[in-house]
Amino acid sequence: MRAYTPETITDAVIEQMSTTPDPRLKQIMESAVRHLHAFAREVNLTPAEWIKGIEFMTKVGQMCTPARQEFILLSDTIGLSALVNIMHDKTKVEEATSASLLGPFFRENTPKFEAGAQIARGAEGAEVVLFGRITSAKGEPLPGAQVTVWQTAADGRYDIQTDASTMDCRGVFNADAEGRYLMRTVRPLGYYIPLDGPVGGMVQAQKRHGMRPAHIHFLIGAPGYRELTTALYIAGDEHLDDDVVFGASGDLVAEIKTSDPDCPIPGLPSVHFDFSLSRESVADKLTGRVGADPGQITAGDVATEKPYGTPPPGVTAEAETKKGGILAGLFRGR
Ligand code: BEZ
Ligand code: FE
Repeated sequence: MRAYTPETITDAVIEQMSTTPDPRLKQIMESAVRHLHAFAREVNLTPAEWIKGIEFMTKVGQMCTPARQEFILLSDTIGLSALVNIMHDKTKVEEATSASLLGPFFRENTPKFEAGAQIARGAEGAEVVLFGRITSAKGEPLPGAQVTVWQTAADGRYDIQTDASTMDCRGVFNADAEGRYLMRTVRPLGYYIPLDGPVGGMVQAQKRHGMRPAHIHFLIGAPGYRELTTALYIAGDEHLDDDVVFGASGDLVAEIKTSDPDCPIPGLPSVHFDFSLSRESVADKLTGRVGADPGQITAGDVATEKPYGTPPPGVTAEAETKKGGILAGLFRGR
């Protein structure tokens, strides 16, 4: 019988998994095992630390509901969503507007609006007009392109965090015959990602601020073109360069102008941004999105979900870390 050592066990596992018939699954699992084993060897992982890691991932899973996707949040906060997005973005067949994170707050079945409508129904805040064109990479208009937008309300939270049974600050629009889109919203604010779960505990244990810069999400589609998942980041926000989920990028920064003569609704502050879409390749049809409506991953009744994500009242990130985020506990006393 063979005796495994830290040096031989990795190949033994890979040899046993070599019967995997699906070649892509085989490649992904082999690589995952190699890297996970190398990580455990590199940090000399102890049994107690690995159990803490298992407890952490168990809590991440238990936190997931039809209205909350803690695993997407974990992937976002360790930069894995951004990495997968950036790699995917580089495979588009034409130069076009770059992608950004879908995040955990996208929802299917968003209400449709006519051009120029206000998407913030219950939310208070300063009105802002969003307008521009949806074109191909060559600048040809994409008539009827579908533009889905979503953002936080004035309190810095998404509708799904406060009352999952209603929809607010999100809408679906169609571009006109010249590819022009037009909508009204309220000025978005920078916000804390949900810090009241295990991922928040990790972020606070690392003494990160936990904030995203103010932004508005866009999902834009037109037949024959690669779907564009992106966001506009509001110029001047203090966290453009240290977004907790690594989504903000310079080419997606947009200015809110107080009186743009091109704005189709005069007298209101506005953002003018033109989006371009790359032609869709055959491979694009299989790649999907990094992120999803939480209800597509965990089935259930969203109407019964409780509000979540408010930073603990009066508790700063630092004080919370002292109390002990989940990983703070892991490393205490070492
Ligand atoms: C968001 O922008 O909606 C978001 C993205 C990643 C993590 C948390 C929030
Ligand atoms: Fe967001």
